[in-house]
Amino acid sequence: MMFLRVFIVIIIQIAVCYFVSPKTIAAEIDAQELFKKHCVICHGEDGKGKTELGEGLEARDFTNKEFQDSITDEKILEQIANGTPEKMFPFRDKLTPEEREALVPVVRAFGGR
Ligand code: HEC
Repeated sequence: MMFLRVFIVIIIQIAVCYFVSPKTIAAEIDAQELFKKHCVICHGEDGKGKTELGEGLEARDFTNKEFQDSITDEKILEQIANGTPEKMFPFRDKLTPEEREALVPVVRAFGGR
């Protein structure tokens, strides 16, 4: 009986950790993979925007220091959600808020930070 109760408590704790911990949720988002899947077609593997689409639409170079200095994390997040008409389509309905947020450090990483 005692053993069973301990066992049940442990199972509940594992379940709570698994479903509630924001870390677990964040770890499940593979931001690099998301970038590859949704962004590389325009922004390129190297973030420079030197793809056919990126050049045609004039995507900026994420590795450029002035670009990184000129943009805030909030702006990056906003851009991912809302896009720019006729240039970048919005990802509001394609990615969850957590996924969009996970992409901000990926964009930043191209600038070496
Ligand atoms: C269809 C091509 C396309 C796709 C796909 C795309 N972008 Fe863009 N993105 C652009 C263009 C073009 C701009 C420049 C927009 C402007 O000039 O306002 C831009 C701008 C941005 C900016 C703002 C920086 C700037 O240039 O003003 C960020 C950040 C960004 N994109 C991130 C992403 C992320 C992250 C994804 C994937 C979820 C993504 N983009 C997908 C074309 C694209």
